[in-house]
Amino acid sequence: MARRRQAPEGLPRLPTGKAGGIALMASLAVTIALLVLGGAAYVVMRLAPEDQPRVAFLVVAHDAPTLHSASLLLGAIYDPEHHYFVHVDKKYKWPTDRTPDETMAPVMKGRTNVKWAQVADVAWGRWSMNEPTLWGMAQMLGTDADVFINLSGDAWPVLTPSALRTTLQELKGLNFVTSGPSCDTGLRPTGRNEFGDGWHKKQAYPHPMLNSEPTLEAFYGSQWMVVTREFCDHVISELERPGSIAHKLREWFVNGTVVVEGVGRVKPHIPDETFFPTVLMRSGLRVPKPVEVVADVTGSGKKVPLRSVWYVRMDEHYPWSSHKQRYEAPSHLSTGRPWGPYYVGSYDLGDIKAHRALFVRKASRHVDGNIFRVLPVDDYAKIPDLRWPATAVTLSTTKTYETVTRGSETGCVRVAESIHCPPVHNLGGDVAASAKRARRYSSGEL
Ligand SMILES: *[C@@H]1O[C@H](CO)[C@@H](O)[C@H](O)[C@H]1NC(C)=O
Ligand SMILES: *[C@@H]1O[C@H](CO)[C@@H](O)[C@H](O)[C@H]1NC(C)=O
Repeated sequence: MARRRQAPEGLPRLPTGKAGGIALMASLAVTIALLVLGGAAYVVMRLAPEDQPRVAFLVVAHDAPTLHSASLLLGAIYDPEHHYFVHVDKKYKWPTDRTPDETMAPVMKGRTNVKWAQVADVAWGRWSMNEPTLWGMAQMLGTDADVFINLSGDAWPVLTPSALRTTLQELKGLNFVTSGPSCDTGLRPTGRNEFGDGWHKKQAYPHPMLNSEPTLEAFYGSQWMVVTREFCDHVISELERPGSIAHKLREWFVNGTVVVEGVGRVKPHIPDETFFPTVLMRSGLRVPKPVEVVADVTGSGKKVPLRSVWYVRMDEHYPWSSHKQRYEAPSHLSTGRPWGPYYVGSYDLGDIKAHRALFVRKASRHVDGNIFRVLPVDDYAKIPDLRWPATAVTLSTTKTYETVTRGSETGCVRVAESIHCPPVHNLGGDVAASAKRARRYSSGEL
């Protein structure tokens, strides 16, 4: 697809009508000067962003709350030059009082660069976990996007859309398939042989995975990716080529079995954490170092360490790290998995800043909505360096009082010898009028 280059706007027009010779010469000179200056400014201000990477985002959703989060997320990452693909799990039961397109309208908002589809029925721990991603990658190849990023509704951007593009320009060509801070090898996927003996991830896989590929080592990453178009192209075309590593791995994940000590013969686990990293490490495409040193392009321009593009708090070392401070999930949001991922909130901001993450998860308005009041930013320097307090935090819990009635008044509370009822004061009209006027100037809550 050809890139649209925008014409500079608002160039001065030559004077028309009767103008004296000198006046015309002067205004021509001014016009030429303005054209030259305007042109130079145009080169600096318009061409640079134009050449910055375009992103194909895959956003996955599986129920009404995740569709709602997806619509908020799309608003925060929206850039008219990017492409957005929303995958709705096949298990989703559409509301019966409207069409699927009507249900999707709050997500789509009539934007032509947003598309949705329902192609896969995803089962946890199975190959089907990769199907939405492969669908998104194939969609991406039909666009002019340079970078592929997959997100779910509980993800949130650290950077504003324009700061994200500037940063992706700096990271161009690198393929990120890990998340921090729990990945022991940082930005680089972890080889199975790097894990200690007996470690569950080492136990889960035999070596070699494929008898026909004795030198193929399994690599672990996370389900979160920021990868290049070249990598997407490689994955999609290799899956179509019988005999390729990708093709053989899919076959193994779908139809193969492994013997796991203490568990027995099972289908190979965690295809989502190993398929893409393993294929990437064999592809010859660029993989980041455990820590990359990059230019702080949204701020000082100085060199800074980049430790993770995806910030996700997980306990790979459960139960040894189970005493770390973290947000407790309200029971209705809890997945009950002891290793997380945990919710992130305002106390994690300092660490998110130090990692220079591009995205975080899981963020929730039901857990700590303050993170949404801070992120996204256009410069990492604007993120406050907040850390977890040294002592455990106890949040106040809402106390409910027993209520009584007094005559026709309800909802009253008995305090010592008196009964306090909800106020029914008769205040002067100026109080409500000035409060109403103030709201026109600020909609913020007090
Ligand atoms: C990203 O891709 C991986 C691999 O297919 C998948 O397991 C994961 O769920 C995806 N994440 C999102 C948010 O779509
Ligand atoms: C799994 O095995 C079935 C039955 O032999 C075959 O039809 C299918 O193509 C295999 N799937 C993959 C991904 O190789």
